[in-house]
Amino acid sequence: MIRLGVNIDHIATVRNARGESYPSPVQAAAFAEIGGADNITCHLREDRRHIRDADVELLKRTIQVPLNFEIAATEEMVRIASQTKPHAVTLVPEKRQELTTEGGLDFNQVSKKLGDQIQSLRDLGIVVSLFVEADAKAMVMAKKLGAQAIEIHTGHYCRGMQDARTTAEQIALLKPLQEAARVAYEQGLQVHVGHGLNYTNAQWMQLVPHCEEANIGHAIVARALFVGLPQAVREMKALLNDSQFCPSIGS
Ligand code: PXP
Repeated sequence: MIRLGVNIDHIATVRNARGESYPSPVQAAAFAEIGGADNITCHLREDRRHIRDADVELLKRTIQVPLNFEIAATEEMVRIASQTKPHAVTLVPEKRQELTTEGGLDFNQVSKKLGDQIQSLRDLGIVVSLFVEADAKAMVMAKKLGAQAIEIHTGHYCRGMQDARTTAEQIALLKPLQEAARVAYEQGLQVHVGHGLNYTNAQWMQLVPHCEEANIGHAIVARALFVGLPQAVREMKALLNDSQFCPSIGS
């Protein structure tokens, strides 16, 4: 079974667009849970463009499922995570100008402090995951740094799926994710996926070996506008665990 982590950042985006107190990401998390969310994910960005500090505190206190707290590996964010003590922390790269997280961690650029930060979070009992590109070397590096899980960036796969015309092309797009997942598993890392997944491409994650968790936000929040959040979550969870899904090259 692939667990579904529901990212509720964009509920806060809508709230902040008008400077109102609604819609509340905390209330959204409760509705996502009703739909079967296995965890709630939120990203506290340096510029606080969507989720704010108070949201994180309230989420931690009110949700019944684990909190996956996405942050950049900065001193400020690691301090907030250490105080909040979420179930898991996913470390992501962050650029001010980007619309959303654009790539996995660049291990050529990560600071020497990263290993210490991972250890300090782990010492508090927090599961540490690193958001990485689908690249075997990144899996080995993640393990060396002390991470327990990796979240493989699915953005490139998702963009490719928009243009893929045949099942063979779709299957080929999965190859880097499958290879990276295999290496991650061999390293003893939990395999998560996320970014850009939607109602037409998420079911393919079942073909990524050892995939335990998918973190999905934008597509679920967008669909929730029409069918409601619990239903949008239910539909995504069903897609991720659709035992009938079996693409064949001939189709
Ligand atoms: N995983 C990570 C590490 C992310 O940064 C994001 C975007 O915040 C997501 C998953 C969710 O991506 P999307 O909103 O495209 O589903």
